[in-house]
Amino acid sequence: MKILFIGDIVGKPGRDALQQQLTQLKRQHRADFTIVNGENAAHGKGITKKIYHQILEWGADMVTLGNHAWDKKEIFDFIDDTDQLVRPANFPEGTPGKGMQYATIGKTKIAIINAQGRTFMNPIDDPFTVVDGLIEQAKRNAHIIFVDFHAEATSEKQAMGWYLDGRASAVVGTHTHIQTSDNRILPNRTAYITDVGMTGPYNSILGVDKNAVIRKFKTGLPVKFDVPETDQTVLSGVVIDVDQNTGEAKKIERILVNDDHLNFE
Ligand SMILES: [Fe+2]
Ligand SMILES: [Fe+2]
Repeated sequence: MKILFIGDIVGKPGRDALQQQLTQLKRQHRADFTIVNGENAAHGKGITKKIYHQILEWGADMVTLGNHAWDKKEIFDFIDDTDQLVRPANFPEGTPGKGMQYATIGKTKIAIINAQGRTFMNPIDDPFTVVDGLIEQAKRNAHIIFVDFHAEATSEKQAMGWYLDGRASAVVGTHTHIQTSDNRILPNRTAYITDVGMTGPYNSILGVDKNAVIRKFKTGLPVKFDVPETDQTVLSGVVIDVDQNTGEAKKIERILVNDDHLNFE
């Protein structure tokens, strides 16, 4: 069973890259199930109902979120009616939406959990304890448990990977937007990567207009962060091979398609 995960879609360039490449990527990697992080899909900040549906139309089966989940206010109007959208599970109780969703792939049931780190991020509930509870529920119902851990600190993401080793099929990191090269299968058969990377404008700083970010560093003055308009993109993802009977991961491979690859390969 192959699970394809695509990292944070940033703005229109990210959406365009997804729309143009997802069908081919799914075919190439024989993906049975596709998860896309959409927290930056609407001009870098949040997601709209229209974009959520587009991401599904283009071939995703599940959309995860992160700290930008609430940036587009219309999320509150539709999140409770969705069954293919997951927001961080450790937001305080009473928060709209769900931190875990189930889906079926043939006869196999998969649970998708989204959680958010607390180091160098807004304080929220402890992700480790919250994920424990969700895994207890999920393991009664699902063969495969997939965790998107949206966090800033490498150490916190590694801690979640090791903490869930043998209890989740995969723990993939998102949020820092740059793909790390530490993809591996942990000893108890959990696939892990610290950060999948983003899908968006290639000649940018984490998806944001590079000149604005440089100006911010040079002057310290308030600067408006925009997603540049461009057709030069990077698409970042991983494909994870999971044994659907045991839930054990067999392989995790990185996918990075950027403008260099398109021009020079
Ligand atoms: Fe992001
Ligand atoms: Fe984020």
